[in-house]
Amino acid sequence: MKDLLNYKLKENVLLKNRFVLAPMTTYSGNPDLTLSDEEDRYYNARGKEFGMVITAATAVSQHGQAFTNQISAMRDFYLPSLKRLADTIKSGGAKAVLQLHHGGRMNAIGLYENQDIVSASSIKAERTNAVTPRALETLEVYDTIEDFRQAMIRAIKSGFDGIELHGANTYLIQQFFSPHSNRRTDEFGGSLEKRLTFPLMLVDMALKTREEFASKDFIIGYRLSPEELEEPGITLEDTTRLIEELSKRKIDYIHLSLSSYKQSSVRNKDDKTPIINILKKHNINNIPLIGVGGIETKNEALEALSLGFDMVAMGKAALSDKFVVTNILNDKPIKKVIDEDSCLPTNMKKRISEWSYLKDKGYTVK
Ligand SMILES: Cc1cc2nc3c(=O)[nH]c(=O)nc-3n(C[C@H](O)[C@H](O)[C@H](O)COP(=O)(O)O)c2cc1C
Repeated sequence: MKDLLNYKLKENVLLKNRFVLAPMTTYSGNPDLTLSDEEDRYYNARGKEFGMVITAATAVSQHGQAFTNQISAMRDFYLPSLKRLADTIKSGGAKAVLQLHHGGRMNAIGLYENQDIVSASSIKAERTNAVTPRALETLEVYDTIEDFRQAMIRAIKSGFDGIELHGANTYLIQQFFSPHSNRRTDEFGGSLEKRLTFPLMLVDMALKTREEFASKDFIIGYRLSPEELEEPGITLEDTTRLIEELSKRKIDYIHLSLSSYKQSSVRNKDDKTPIINILKKHNINNIPLIGVGGIETKNEALEALSLGFDMVAMGKAALSDKFVVTNILNDKPIKKVIDEDSCLPTNMKKRISEWSYLKDKGYTVK
């Protein structure tokens, strides 16, 4: 049985446990998109518990900004804010990983003047209030990769232990991989192989940037959503190709964004095989895998590990209970009431109090 404590992610990178704080947007940065005092406190508390903390999605460029008060890594101006974030997480003994993000066509409207909502192609998301994005010109796609590179260099300079490329949850990287949002005819679209170009160029860029600016210990992770419901949409067959390609590269983990760690296909409802069972076969080089989705007890964490995950991330449980890892390790029930003691930024608490997504899972907000 895999031990929940002391996980060696790679040479020289030892995590105090296999629990990972799932990346969670706080909507609570300062108006200039620097880290706020409230966010500092939120991360400080979680850094004491988790082996690794993945930050909220962090904008790599202005046209990447997706949410109000989303923290940013888009210019050198943000270096002190990023350093503060890395320091506060690391002070508790966790590894600090910055999630690099571009929202693409999912950006909220009206975040700044002359907002430019871009994507792989000029196709609206199938959501209410979605806007038709502008398709990036080929040269702009290369500029966007450069934005990710610059943001990664800032993460390195600020003392982060790693970065995670946010290739999940319908944002820009996924938009390039998806046959729904990517109808391009240049090198970035047209076939499955070409839809892989943007995600893999980003990964190769990250590997090269590590070589140039960081030590071998620097962590590079990739988060992906295995399927899309849209037609056309990402299928598990598409994702097996992505996993194969990711696994050929020297990244340090692949993070599956799932609503349950044992979730089966949402496209092929007849197949009840957990997605992890299908995908792990294509993880040719056994890159560590992070699972997420509904983990609240030690048994669930252990079950996720036995299914083939190497680390388990927690989102909602870590919002309500700032001692979630200690409680789970001691077989104690977690606290599912979000209150003062949860140590959440005010705007985040306000936002999530409106989400049925939390209420449905038994979380209440006081
Ligand atoms: C408030 C909130 C904000 C989130 N923000 C992000 C984010 O910035 N980046 C991301 O990749 N996922 C984000 N997620 C998804 C979580 O990382 C996680 O995958 C999801 O909550 C499922 O895990 P859970 O069942 O443990 O909550 C967010 C989830 C919540 C509840």
